[in-house]
Amino acid sequence: MMKIRVENPNNLKKKTAMLCGFVLENSDKILGLENMNSRIIPSIKQSINDMGGEFGKISVIPTIGTSAQRILLAGLGKREKLTNDTIRFVSGKIAQKARELKLKEFSIIVPPTSLIEPISSVSQIVEGCKMSLYKFEKYKTKIENNIPNLTILVAKSEKISKAIRIAEIISDGVVYTKSIANLPPNECIPTTLANFARIVSKKNNMKCIIISKSDLNKKGFGGIIAVGQGSKNEPKLIILEHNHGSRNEKPIVLVGKAVTFDTGGISLKPGEKMDEMKFDKCGGCTVMGIMKVVSELKLPVNVVGIIPSVENMPGGESYRPGDIIKLYCGKTAEILNTDAEGRLILADALSYGEKQYSPKVIIDFATLTGACIIALGTNIAGMVSNNDKLVQTIIKSSKRTTEEVWELPLNDDYIDMIKSDVADMKNVGIGRAAGTITAAAFLRNAIKNTPWVHIDIAGVAWTQTGTKEKPYNPKGATGFGVRLILDYLQNI
Ligand code: BES
Ligand code: MN
Ligand code: ZN
Repeated sequence: MMKIRVENPNNLKKKTAMLCGFVLENSDKILGLENMNSRIIPSIKQSINDMGGEFGKISVIPTIGTSAQRILLAGLGKREKLTNDTIRFVSGKIAQKARELKLKEFSIIVPPTSLIEPISSVSQIVEGCKMSLYKFEKYKTKIENNIPNLTILVAKSEKISKAIRIAEIISDGVVYTKSIANLPPNECIPTTLANFARIVSKKNNMKCIIISKSDLNKKGFGGIIAVGQGSKNEPKLIILEHNHGSRNEKPIVLVGKAVTFDTGGISLKPGEKMDEMKFDKCGGCTVMGIMKVVSELKLPVNVVGIIPSVENMPGGESYRPGDIIKLYCGKTAEILNTDAEGRLILADALSYGEKQYSPKVIIDFATLTGACIIALGTNIAGMVSNNDKLVQTIIKSSKRTTEEVWELPLNDDYIDMIKSDVADMKNVGIGRAAGTITAAAFLRNAIKNTPWVHIDIAGVAWTQTGTKEKPYNPKGATGFGVRLILDYLQNI
């Protein structure tokens, strides 16, 4: 675990293994060091000039006769192209360099207030560094575990300390989400996720309810039962409650798809890249990570996390194309493709959430459709909703966190596309047209009029071909959605 300290920036006499500063493109200054009477700048002026400040470029300079053993220059790119992600991204590069050099610690100088608000800088530095040092190495028998500690050079204040603490908890939440989402499907089955939920709830005083197969059956969770019946690993409905808002305040319900492995079932998927379907639990893992953070931060809100978890397997007990099932909301669904399983378990979870908690808002995360990758690629999540105001709020959080989302439309024409001849609805649309929206239309039918946003994370939940490289998203699960929803919850 990375330890983080704050030091006043004029205290540069303190020894450090590596003093790291940001440099704008074509500048000859280290940001935040300009006005400090330091002996450092003149001696390396030429090096600063030479490195050029190109975005993401890192240059390490050995030093003589300074308190810093090395100086690292980190390029921020053009001033007018700075985004909410620049410092996070570049800090991640710095942290990875420090690890590569096997340093015990390194220091980062915070840019001046005139360029970026220090609270924002500090949060991004912490997030970038912490998230970038995570690697999925649980199954490597030999690992080098060098995690350097970080000193942030910035004027000390209560606000800065608080921002650091919040950023640490959020980054740890993202790392937690990645670490469970990366688990292989032989190790992580619905019971495993339920156990993780119990552990998280005990540590942080949440209520945890696990509904097992026989109760799911009795209570009418027809979608979860149908999808789960082909696997010997029984389905679970996992519920975490964080009640820190006022008593009569309606909660926010978060729902996450957790298919621990999606073979497609009887409508079996082709073999190519089927291993990646261990990531079909990412929506649920995101909700679990959010609940962990919400409870650790003791946010003054009521939030409920609902995670339907199943394994979608073919076999003698599996549900089949042609089956007609009854969902928790009371509607019937004709199964035309057992690979369209996510919407069935989500429909149950959504209507359960609405009925049980009368929430003010429902937000769901799901690796729901390959069509979302066709529509938006692997860097932007799809978003479908029944409430414009909620969409606008989520877009604001998306801009602040650079977890990108793009809204797709949902009108009655799409709802018509999932009408069935023999049941209330069918679990596929018309051919492959608008696959992300017809899946969302199915979910829409499971709830009444609660403001709801569905976020399809099929393209962004893990790194795949086309994923933009970011130091804080190494190969594997990305934890998409944790920072987005934490921003949303902190701002309501
Ligand atoms: N989990 C998949 C969606 C998916 C596929 C996510 C590839 C990420 C990468 C989902 O359960 C699924 O199989 N959806 C089908 C729906 C279709 C049968 C209507 C799909 O997208 O092909
Ligand atoms: Mn599927
Ligand atoms: Zn799936």
